Amino acid sequence: MLSALATMPAAESRLKTGLTINVGFTMLWDSLWINARIATFDAEDDYGIIEDGAIAVKQGKIAWIGPSQSLEIDADKLASNVYDVKQQWLLPGFIDCHTHIVYGGNRANEFSLRLAGKSYADIAKQGGGIQKTMYATREASIHDLYQESIKRLQSLLSEGVTGIEIKSGYGLDVNNEEKMLQVAQQIADNFPCHVQKTFLGAHAIPPEFSGKSDEYMHHICEIILPYLAKENLIDAVDVFCENIAFNLAQTRKLFQAATSLNLPVKIHAEQLSDMHGAKLAAEFDALSADHLEYLSKASIIAMAKAGTVATLLPGAFYYLQETQLPPIDLLRKHRVPIAIATDCNPGSSPCTSLLLMVNMACVLFKLTPLEALQGITRHAARALGWQDSLGSLAVGKQADFSLWAIEHPQDLAYRISGNLPNSVIYKGNSV
Ligand code: NIG
Ligand code: FE
Repeated sequence: MLSALATMPAAESRLKTGLTINVGFTMLWDSLWINARIATFDAEDDYGIIEDGAIAVKQGKIAWIGPSQSLEIDADKLASNVYDVKQQWLLPGFIDCHTHIVYGGNRANEFSLRLAGKSYADIAKQGGGIQKTMYATREASIHDLYQESIKRLQSLLSEGVTGIEIKSGYGLDVNNEEKMLQVAQQIADNFPCHVQKTFLGAHAIPPEFSGKSDEYMHHICEIILPYLAKENLIDAVDVFCENIAFNLAQTRKLFQAATSLNLPVKIHAEQLSDMHGAKLAAEFDALSADHLEYLSKASIIAMAKAGTVATLLPGAFYYLQETQLPPIDLLRKHRVPIAIATDCNPGSSPCTSLLLMVNMACVLFKLTPLEALQGITRHAARALGWQDSLGSLAVGKQADFSLWAIEHPQDLAYRISGNLPNSVIYKGNSV
């Protein structure tokens, strides 16, 4: 039967799945992985497990996925490259949906100060914090900034991350915000990783505008944002809405400017106090609201209605020794999707392990391993507006996945460190 088909270029064969295929001189698929234990993360409330599964890739996208036994035809007749993965687990590429990996310098001295009792807010008010990193970032050449940033990136990628959000926000003027976003673009161009470039000019008030935060917000909306958007350096717009940063009215002004440029918004909200930032963000259909320790019920209801993802950042919670927990039960009750991210930054979360954040989300925030892992797959994709192409394994999605010698996906939440995949596939190619 097969040899007859092989001589007939347009012959048809039917798989058990009901899928009709042409079998001819050209292979149906580019690559096929067989004998995998697949967790698709393509379901709302479970891992989407396919025992003894197979996944086929054509032109970088998933062309077929299902039980290996549904492939009635020999695998090597179906794809040019066939990989027997011998019962390894196959998981979607992970997504770190909130990072500040591009920055200069470090803030180890502030760590010591905080251990001695100073608060994050006090250090910021006294010119440390974000401003300190701003000076180091402004001083760094684009080359040095890139070299420093890719060390952090490589650490994230080593754990099976294939998608990342990178924020600006340590330049705080047009040239230096541009420099940061150019580094993010270079990362997108050079690494096997999808990158969302997020403009966070509204991260802190730079010294040029000291005491004039309204003027700085006006400058962002009128000058910096439109210019960088025109340069194609912005995929989304973020703001630090907090009593030590920007207020609600200023945040609204930024969201209006972003919306008029057709750019999606997101927010650092309710990290240190309840400013009702997440509720405002939901009014603008924000992709995500992030941190959220002080989130109110009214904001949760607004987020649920708007489909805004709650991105929780256990690294910052841990590192700042916060005690106010994000309202997990209410988020669950209102079915707000929860994402988990590193918030990798030099001040509140100098962390380059997304899987450590998964563990911390379980231990500190009492998420289940499934919830925490959904937080770096399907929900992280949603937090970046990528849910149609990334974050789970389904036909038509990007073929980004990793292979693991583990007993079950929950092992990745269970270990505190030392989780490394055996291989990572990005757009159908091994990296
Ligand atoms: O997400 N909250 C504001 N921004 C960062 C911290 C930035 C910094 O301290 O350098 C955060 O935690
Ligand atoms: Fe952040």
